[in-house]
This record gives sequence, structure tokens and C-alpha cells, in this order.
Amino acid sequence: MDSHDWTSVRAQFNLSPDYVHISNFFLASMPLPVREALARHRKAFDENPYTYLEDHMFAKPQDMVWRKVCAAAAEYIGGKPEEVALTTSTTQGLSMIYNGLHLRADQEILTTHHEWYTHDEAMRLAMLKLGGSIRRIELYRDRSEVTVDAIVQRIGDAIRPNTRLVAMTWVHSGTGVRLPLKEIGEVIAQANRRRKADDQILYVVDGVHGFGCVDEDVASLGCDFFSAGTHKWIMAPHGTGLVWAKAEHWAQVIPTIPTIMAAEPSNAWRQQRDPQGPTEASWVSPGGFLAFENQWATIEAFEFNRKLGRKRIADRVSQLNGLLKEGLDAMPHVTLHTPLPAQLSAGIVCCEVKGHSPREVVEVLKQHKIIASATPYRHSTVRFSAGIVNSPQDIEKTLAVMRSLG
Ligand SMILES: Cc1ncc(COP(=O)(O)O)c(C=O)c1O
Repeated sequence: MDSHDWTSVRAQFNLSPDYVHISNFFLASMPLPVREALARHRKAFDENPYTYLEDHMFAKPQDMVWRKVCAAAAEYIGGKPEEVALTTSTTQGLSMIYNGLHLRADQEILTTHHEWYTHDEAMRLAMLKLGGSIRRIELYRDRSEVTVDAIVQRIGDAIRPNTRLVAMTWVHSGTGVRLPLKEIGEVIAQANRRRKADDQILYVVDGVHGFGCVDEDVASLGCDFFSAGTHKWIMAPHGTGLVWAKAEHWAQVIPTIPTIMAAEPSNAWRQQRDPQGPTEASWVSPGGFLAFENQWATIEAFEFNRKLGRKRIADRVSQLNGLLKEGLDAMPHVTLHTPLPAQLSAGIVCCEVKGHSPREVVEVLKQHKIIASATPYRHSTVRFSAGIVNSPQDIEKTLAVMRSLG
């Protein structure tokens, strides 16, 4: 692969050449090095499952492959390997957090009406079992209301003395709006300065649609818990994800599903005692046995991102989706829901077409061999998502069909 030639990059993927794949936010097509790693692990598991797992998971701490996955993730995140818990999806990670942080009955989660179903539902189910309430606010009605100052002010104004968690999503998959995570973190930090140590607000982020397409060190965004699948923008195998948090925040979590990635909990069980010391990230990584070949081939996915460069990927995603937004915004029959400024969106573009339901639009696009989606939110929109596998020609083709609907 010539990593500076996007045609050469596209050739790393087995995506059908018959289609314009412009729903790249959804589920990754894996690049060649990831497919090769996956095939290598799968073959070894089929040949000798006991020994391959024992040697790479349990025998020697330095040979535990999951540690290498955490190291690769930490390098990408700008954090430490021991701050990373491995999960199978964004949803699973969020559930681990909400089920692990016990709110008092009088405390609340402050969140928004813009969350994806599984994020909202993860909170609801945890609060149902554990107590605590959820308050949802609207951050914007349409894209004209999306500015950094307006969003930060709405969240700052909504924080109450009993707000214990603030739960946000980096990039809304129903509108394409990217939230200013750092600035939101600052307003939360400000509120925390007036609070006691055991009453600090924790800032939880569903980061999946920024993770892999925005050039940021996640560890420096100011959030306390960051959950993201790696099977979307990071281009790792399906059923992979992570949660990043600092040690002081992991210490506040009670694990929900027993782990097989840390010695202390199972040693404690053998010795008929409670685990000693604070909860660590690895204790929250759910066991039992997993699709290990998928989890382990995530190393090659981070390596692929590193080779291409996080900034180059982010710039390409921004450029292609920028072309798409501008083209759509110029069409009188299209209402664009995603803000035009690059810093207020990432790799998702949502719109509506006068006189056509989102499903009808998606069907017309499909007839032209363009793969878009209709969002499964309360208010459905047409959704596009250009990634590094796309070209400016793909955007032109898409815009031509959208123009024809006028
Ligand atoms: C904002 C958002 N969060 C979470 C998810 C679910 O991600 P996962 O399948 O990794 O749980 C989605 C699905 O695309 C999403 O749009």
C-alpha cells in the first residue's frame, strides 16, 4: 500500500466495486492487514485451540495478546495501556459504566434527547435496577442553533446539585452534529471545583463516531469515561471496542461481568477472599471466552490507522463530507441537518428531501448503486457517511442522484 495514494488505500479493502459505499459509520470493512491477522489467529485456533489460547492468554503475562491490544489502543488514545478496558461494542462499554457506577436514589444522570437508542437504554436499564434518575435536555432544534457557546451554555445551565453523571455523545448519529467535548469538559470541571471529592460529576462519552475519524487524543478531551466500538471507524474486526478512563475513575466502578483478563479477581476467588485494591480497567473487561481472533486483530487495525496517520484520515473524512454538505446545502429541495463548519461535524451527514421520505430516498440511491441509510431515530433523516474508502467522484455521483430528486 502507498499510504499517500487514496486509490491504493482503497485497494486494501474487499468492498464490492459495484457500489458507492457511503454508509461507512455503520460497520467496518476490514483492510488487508486486519483480514490477514484475523485469518492467522483463526487458523491457529482451529489447529490447536487449547494451546493457542493458553500460550497467548494465560501462560505468561508478557505473552497476553490483550495487553498488546490495550497498548496499541493507548498509543492511539494518548493514554496508558492500563487505562483501557476491552469490550465487544460501544453499547457494552456504556452498560459496564452505568451498571458499575452506583448513583444514590436522589442523584441523576444529565443527558440529551440526541442519544442513540442503545446509549439511552443502557442508562435507563441501569437506573431501573440501581436507583437514580435520568434528565434529558435538547441541545439544539436545528443546525442554526449549533454553536460551541450555545451547546456549552445549555449543558452548564442544566447541571443541578444532584447531577452525578453527565452523559454525552461525541457525534450524533441522527444529525451528524459533533459536540465540543473539551469545552463541555471545562464547564463540568468548573462545576466540580465547588463540589466535595465524593460528589464530583463524572463525564461519560459515547465516542464511537469520532473515534477513528477525528484527530484528537481521547485522553486529553476532558471526559472521565469514553466508550467506543472499534468495529466502525477504527476498521477493526466486528465485536470489538473499548472504554478508556483514568485509574481514579476505574476505582469507582464495580465490575458487572466477571473478567478473565486480570489475575486478582480469580486469585481472590481461589483463595476465598474479596479482590484486594481498587478496580482496574482490566477487571471491567467482560469475560468469559470471546471471539479472541477478532479482539487480537484489533492491533493491526490501530497499526493501519497509525500508518495512514490520524490527522490525514481525519482531514480526508472532513474533506469528503464537507463536499457532500456543501453540495446538499445548495439544493433547494434538500434540508441539511448537519452543520457546515468542519469542527461541528465529523463523518456523518444527515438531510431530508422535500416530498420524499428518507426510506424512499435511500431506495432511489440504492437503485443507482449508492448505499446510504435512513436513520432509525424518532425523527428519521437520510444519512451519508463518507470514509477513507470514498473518493470525490463518489461524492459527485451521490450528489447527482440527490439533485435529480428536486
Ligand atoms: C451514537 C451511537 N452510539 C452507539 C452506537 C452503537 O455502537 P455499537 O454497535 O458499537 O454498540 C451507534 C450505532 O451506530 C451509534 O450511532
